[in-house]
Amino acid sequence: MKRVVYARRGGLEAIEIVEEEDPTPTADQVRIEVHRAGINFADLMMRQGLYGAAPDFPFTPGYEVSGIVREVGENVEDFAVGDRVVAFSGFGGYAEQVVVDTKQVWPLPESISFDAAAAMPVTYLTAHHMLVYLGNFKPGDSILVHHAAGGVGTATAQLARALEAGSVYGTASANKAEFVESQGMIHIPRGEDFAKRIKSEIGGVHHALDPVGGKHIMDSYRALRNGGRLYVFGASSAVKGPKRSMLKALKMWWDTPRFDPIRMMNSNKSVYGIHMGMWKDEDVVRKQMVSLAKMLELGHIDPVIDSVYRFEDVAAAQQHIHDRGNRGKVLLDFSPK
Ligand SMILES: NC(=O)c1ccc[n+]([C@@H]2O[C@H](COP(=O)([O-])OP(=O)(O)OC[C@H]3O[C@@H](n4cnc5c(N)ncnc54)[C@H](OP(=O)(O)O)[C@@H]3O)[C@@H](O)[C@H]2O)c1
Repeated sequence: MKRVVYARRGGLEAIEIVEEEDPTPTADQVRIEVHRAGINFADLMMRQGLYGAAPDFPFTPGYEVSGIVREVGENVEDFAVGDRVVAFSGFGGYAEQVVVDTKQVWPLPESISFDAAAAMPVTYLTAHHMLVYLGNFKPGDSILVHHAAGGVGTATAQLARALEAGSVYGTASANKAEFVESQGMIHIPRGEDFAKRIKSEIGGVHHALDPVGGKHIMDSYRALRNGGRLYVFGASSAVKGPKRSMLKALKMWWDTPRFDPIRMMNSNKSVYGIHMGMWKDEDVVRKQMVSLAKMLELGHIDPVIDSVYRFEDVAAAQQHIHDRGNRGKVLLDFSPK
């Protein structure tokens, strides 16, 4: 089987494809023939050595896959060879075959495509975890989300609709206005003073989802209403392009605000830090995945796929995201030819 490897820290030239024996599942694992693997922005940051939770180089990225079970470990009862499944692969999902603990695997009904399944786990879980699990989301609540046209952005817009949200503001590059509006969000071009506009239009949002980091965090905090919640869940402003820019990364850290709890108390605003890759309580994740799977089956959510690249073209796929070209999720096709 073939798998994608980040041979070393670097730009797109650090990506290699290696060939090796298929992995063997342990007693509680299944081996999945991968049909689709999701690309997440974090994968790009890992390649640049800007992602704290990544393994040492060389390693294979890839948090999520969909495919078909081809082998089961001796203790496995819930899955059989031939089952269609979706899984959290931890790392290592950019491969033709992966072995995964069955706790991280879910059955996939025939009605759900491999594309939709691989596009769902990270983005929807992250948005759901912030709004519903942490955020005590209520119908009518207003939301601000950045990178609104991307994976988490479009997932947030769909969850917002399913949860009967009030106004949903989405910042994104100016050329994505039409797409963002088509997803039911109010588009604010990247770089505009979104906090000022939101304050003047609705007095502030209940939930602000910030994956940008640096000084942007404080702008999102300013956009909250009394009682509002800010979720800090990324640091995309540390990234300049395919190659690592230490200056950009250091600036992001330098500009990161330090919050004063007394001022937060007086304004009734809360700040959460979220890293799903480091979330420890598996039950919380499973319960949310079950409810998301149900929403997917009922058609209440339907992941937006920007594009599917053959895995041999993984560098082009990541370049497309670096270029801010994606509208929705970018996937890799590992299905047998
Ligand atoms: N903490 C967690 O558990 C967690 C989980 C999932 C995702 N995240 C974070 O959420 C964010 C969105 O993730 P995603 O996977 O859904 O990605 P995505 O939004 O599809 O990422 C691509 C988009 O991000 C925007 N962007 C912002 N800064 C960029 C930069 N420096 N280079 C290229 N594009 C940039 C671009 O859109 P515009 O130009 O239109 O803004 C681009 O099209 C990322 O920061 C990611 O790390 C965190």
